[in-house]
Amino acid sequence: MYKSYHNSVAAKVLFASLFCFGNLTNIAASEQKNKPTEINGVPVVWPGESREEIKKYVGEAKALVSKKVTKKYDFNGKLVIDGGVYYPIVDGKTGSYYVNELAHKTPYNKGKRATANEQKAWDIDVMPDGTGLPEGSGSVEFGDEVYEEKCLSCHGDFGAGSGLYPRLTVGNAYEMHKTLTNQRVDPDTDGPHRAFGSYWPYASTLWWYIKTGMPHQAPMSLTTEEVYALAAYILHVNEMEIEGEEVDEDYVLDREKFLKIKMPNVDGFEPNINGPKGQDNARAYFNDPVNYGNGIRCMKNCFDGEPRVQRIAFALTDFSPPLDSTKTLPVVKDEKPAHSGKANYEASCAVCHATDAMGAPAVGDKKAWEAVMKKGIDAVKKNAIHGINGMPPKGGADLTDEQVNEIVDYMIEASK
Ligand code: HEC
Ligand code: HEC
Repeated sequence: MYKSYHNSVAAKVLFASLFCFGNLTNIAASEQKNKPTEINGVPVVWPGESREEIKKYVGEAKALVSKKVTKKYDFNGKLVIDGGVYYPIVDGKTGSYYVNELAHKTPYNKGKRATANEQKAWDIDVMPDGTGLPEGSGSVEFGDEVYEEKCLSCHGDFGAGSGLYPRLTVGNAYEMHKTLTNQRVDPDTDGPHRAFGSYWPYASTLWWYIKTGMPHQAPMSLTTEEVYALAAYILHVNEMEIEGEEVDEDYVLDREKFLKIKMPNVDGFEPNINGPKGQDNARAYFNDPVNYGNGIRCMKNCFDGEPRVQRIAFALTDFSPPLDSTKTLPVVKDEKPAHSGKANYEASCAVCHATDAMGAPAVGDKKAWEAVMKKGIDAVKKNAIHGINGMPPKGGADLTDEQVNEIVDYMIEASK
């Protein structure tokens, strides 16, 4: 039933769009002389920006509520970024899906409406205009201390990054900002250097990101003062200024000063998505294929001419050990099979348990595990499944209880 309903609506919509697309092409042709109306015999649609014009091919939406009842929605579709349309929204529901809901035989429980307090608890974002940014302050000096204790292990000395963890600076933000227009053309040219200082348009994101997401293993654990201090420290290692004043080692950042930060790349994004016209700017931008690709919107025989071939400009050759040119499969070693919990341990637990840096008992540390095992194996397995202190339930991974038990067996065995 779901399917047949869907097909019938789909057929109607398709018919409506085909019919109206033809219309639009004509309008477009008269208004936009320099844009082709067809390419290789396939009509091309050039969506106009006025509501009237869009209306011509969005049209009204019909929906079958049941075999007998048809609902008709007036036009309120809107062009979306890729040139498609939003369907009418009725009572907060998208028209077409509203009907699908009834096609389900069993009613489902949508839960309760979030209370004002619950909504407030989630509404913790910080906006560029200062909405959500609490009063408070923190110094670079204190930020340095907190950084060393809570961030350095992943983000490296002075925010330089380490391994897979992102760097929080690439050097002087203003100098590095100039590299953003660099292309990586060949290996000798310097590509764009992107990090908080050089790339991010707003500092508010930094505040919010740290407050809600960092440190990675204990999000939402930092105080307002710590977050101001860390933000100050990160501005410092990006060699940034606030109203001409360098954020030096003695700098104390507060809310007022924070709101005066001007990131070098604030105007570096296209289309301009800031402000109340942001979404419309984005739509207009993506509705004009001249802004990207070949400059034409088309699905078939789109390319006329010789394709431009791109080649990798250089190849890495100095491998150590050198690459073998004979094609042989690796020799299978005659070893006893790895513990069945090992692979899952490495995928989901090693990030915290490989060392004791996160306060987790390190695998291989005999003493630490002897201490853990005093609770008895059942309690320990229960803690691994349900979490305890810094240990998230199941390590935050999508594992069955059996899998976690198996991993714990492995961890214990590997720590004897
Ligand atoms: C356990 C490792 C870990 C620790 C400790 C940690 N982070 Fe992160 N941090 C990450 C990871 C991983 C990401 C990338 C997350 C992503 O891209 O989804 C990240 C991303 C960030 C970013 C965004 C960087 C960018 O350019 O996208 C900032 C800012 C940041 N961390 C700040 C901090 C601060 C401040 C602390 C200390 C309070 C901290 N982090 C501690 C792992 C960590
Ligand atoms: C985000 C870091 C993190 C991840 C990921 C993680 N652990 Fe832990 N784990 C901890 C910390 C921290 C402790 C110490 C908790 C305490 O006792 O305060 C701990 C403790 C434990 C303990 C000892 C519990 C006890 O009773 O003392 C076991 C067992 C354990 N983890 C198993 C696992 C398993 C299995 C996984 C993967 C599925 C895993 N952990 C993933 C951080 C982590």
